[in-house]
Parts: sequence; C-alpha cells; structure tokens
Amino acid sequence: MPVQNTDTTVVLTHPHNKETSVTILKYGATVYSWKLNSEEQLWLSTAAKLDGSKPVRGGIPLVFPVFGKNETDELLSKLPQHGLARNSTWEFLGQTKENPPTVQFGLNEKIANPELTALWPRSFQLVLTVELGADYLKTGIEVDNTSNTEALKFNWLFHTYLRIEDIEDTMVSNLAGMHLYDQLIKESFVDKHPVITFHQETDCIYSNVDADRNIQVVSRGKQIHTLKRENLPDAVVWNPWVKKSEGMGDFEPKIGYKNMVCVEPGHVHDFIELAPGKKWNASQLLYKDELKYQAIQ
Ligand code: BG6
Repeated sequence: MPVQNTDTTVVLTHPHNKETSVTILKYGATVYSWKLNSEEQLWLSTAAKLDGSKPVRGGIPLVFPVFGKNETDELLSKLPQHGLARNSTWEFLGQTKENPPTVQFGLNEKIANPELTALWPRSFQLVLTVELGADYLKTGIEVDNTSNTEALKFNWLFHTYLRIEDIEDTMVSNLAGMHLYDQLIKESFVDKHPVITFHQETDCIYSNVDADRNIQVVSRGKQIHTLKRENLPDAVVWNPWVKKSEGMGDFEPKIGYKNMVCVEPGHVHDFIELAPGKKWNASQLLYKDELKYQAIQ
C-alpha cells in the first residue's frame, strides 16, 4: 500500500522499494521519519512527543509565520517561538500523484490551533506537498494570502534535523563566503571558514545564500546529505551541543546532539509580505549527490 492514512499519521512507501518510506504526523504536518533503503535519514529524539502535546523534537518541523521569538512586530511578537504551524493539526488533503507518491496537507486559520490564531488573527491557506522519490524527499510549501484587504507578513522555514554519525566528524559545506548572523554572540559577519565544523553550540543564520548553492553535509570526506532550495534564500545551521541539550526536556538521549545537525532552509532574514490574494511557493529537496565543493564567488 503506497499511502496509509491513520488518525494521526500518513505513511508513504515507494512503489518500487518498500524499504523507502516517509512518515508524516498530522500534528504540525511534521515529517518525522524518512527511510531510504531502510536507512533512517532524519534525527528524532527518543523523547519526542508524537501525541500533539508539543512540537516534535526532530524530523522536519515547519516554522510559520515567525522564526524564533519575535520582539518587534506588533502581532507576530505575541506568538510563541517558531509560530503556530508546528503546533496545529493539519488536514490531510489526500494523494495527488501515484509515482512518485505525493500527498498534501492543508492548514488555515479556521483549523489551526485556536489559542494561537487568537494571538495572530490573519487569513491564510498553507498547502504542504510531500513527494517521496526513489532517492529523494521533496517538501514544498504554498502560502496563500486569503485576505481581501490585508497583507500577510511571515517567515517560512523547514527545521530539518539530519541524522549523522558523529558531529565532530561532520562538516557543512558550500556556505563559505556567505553572510551570517550568529544568534549566540548576536553578531553579523562573513563566514571566512572554508567549511562549517562543530566543536560547541552552533546557531547561525546564513542569509541570501545563492539559489545554486547546494548545501552538503559531509562526514569523513563522504557526502551524507545534500539540500537544494527553491525560493528559500536563508539557511540556519544549528547544533545544541551539551548544555542546551540538557536544558531541553524532550531531547533524548542527551548524547543525541552528536547524531544530529539541523540545516534549515528558510526565508527568515526578513519577512515576506504577500499582497491580498497572492501566493508564495518554496521547497526543500533532500537527496544524495557527489561531493561538490562550490567556489566562493
Ligand atoms: C533553531 C534556532 O532554528 O531552532 C535555535 O536557530 C533554536 O535558536 C532551535 O534553539 C530549536 O528551537 P525549539 O523552539 O524547537 O527548541
């Protein structure tokens, strides 16, 4: 059965390979497992809540309409960190393609978490498309401003937790020469390092990363994950390391920070302002590729 729809999850299995599958929780429309030839590609905390009591710690939580905790916007500042999409139950809209198996989920202000829409009274329709290729996973988002009068101001981000073997043997490449904002020291600068390596907590927003720059996660000289972005100019790179992991109740095992790195394509450096009736689209493609080091322009 290529698509299994239960009360809480949707599972897609590739028609030519039953060892390749993706599982999406309707709460948050959170992809929380992607297996390629039976190998799990995403990191999921063993203490992640999958019962809708809080956003999932792992997989690909969806960040909308605000990234982080906003302190300046009159309305967005009322929302909790990372907005309302990851803590709302989405509607399963059904299967749109047989092969590659593709499904869609929808969210609007009528079905989103009412405690949060009360804080941010805006009209919107989101459609998430999840496509399971034989050797890739594509997640696409369409944001529709369904208001006739008001502009829709928002951030979008795929908060992708990638599974890795050992953070200290891992590099993230092709962000060299890019402008970044380090959220820990609250400073902006150009990253002069040839690759990103990890020796401590890391929380950086790379902004305006050229669309043709494919971010690669490399372990011991081998590429493990490649990310292609469409209409997502920014990328957050995050690893909580020891202390921050200890402070997160749903982050288990505590040593789990060694086995994950978040590479999060988004539009978060500034806000998208969508005129009434307009739509905005973006996507993230996760796949395997040869190691390609892209020169700094
Ligand atoms: C990252 C942010 O995207 O998400 C970090 O850059 C944040 O600052 C992390 O700590 C996790 O956020 P949360 O709300 O899921 O604990």
